[in-house]
Amino acid sequence: MSAARGPRPSAAAVGRRARGLFRGAPAAVRAHVAVRWATAPLAEVVAELPAGGRVVEIGCGHGLVSACAALADPGRTVLGVDIDAEKIRHAREAARGVPNLEFDVAVSGAVPAGPWDAVAFVDVLYLLPESEQRRLLTEAVEQLAPGGLVVVKEMGTEPAWKVRWNTAQETLAVKVLRITAGSEFDFVPPATVAGWLRGLGLAVATRRLDRGRPHPHVLVLGRAAGSPGTSGGPGGAP
Ligand SMILES: C[S@@+](CC[C@H](N)C(=O)[O-])C[C@H]1O[C@@H](n2cnc3c(N)ncnc32)[C@H](O)[C@@H]1O
Repeated sequence: MSAARGPRPSAAAVGRRARGLFRGAPAAVRAHVAVRWATAPLAEVVAELPAGGRVVEIGCGHGLVSACAALADPGRTVLGVDIDAEKIRHAREAARGVPNLEFDVAVSGAVPAGPWDAVAFVDVLYLLPESEQRRLLTEAVEQLAPGGLVVVKEMGTEPAWKVRWNTAQETLAVKVLRITAGSEFDFVPPATVAGWLRGLGLAVATRRLDRGRPHPHVLVLGRAAGSPGTSGGPGGAP
């Protein structure tokens, strides 16, 4: 049965509530979550998710995007998975008391069994080799419900100054400070990702999300054929 729907809270209010879930977390985790919110267009990504239904986020980290997705719409059920068990431990702590939000440790490169109304990848594909990115997206499409959506937020490959800024920061996070699991990164052009999804039969749209931001954020959305909302999840058709 669908949860009761009231007026949608604003993205800013959802972001505040989601960050508030980490109140009891160590300072480093709180700082990480605050920086993520400040530097990435997470609200814009969450706004693309379907109302209701079953959503999975692959590579959810501490779970901020998943938490926003769950808090923004109680009629949606959200699962966040990540290979980093420590991050999932903090995510689970944060999710206590949010009934439509769960977290799990993932096997690298696996998409949990669907059907999913949306499969989201937010700044995670670049940590995998290009062939693995393509394979993971193929798996995501296979697990989509009819009308389901693949949401990919990655960094674009232009303009050059934003790419240089992002590369410097990722080198620090991944290779020096080791805040993010991985040892290399592979920024595949969004047009290539869009082409893969099109080749898998999805209707694809690409949108830049970097206006007023120093990072070259880009969103790629791929919609499967069929009527949305038929996964049998809380927002699904009867
Ligand atoms: C930059 S963080 C993004 C976290 C979150 N999506 C967000 O937007 O705040 C990338 C995350 O991807 C995870 N990751 C890396 N490789 C992965 C894989 N093969 N499968 C699942 N998660 C992975 C890392 O552990 C890390 O938490």
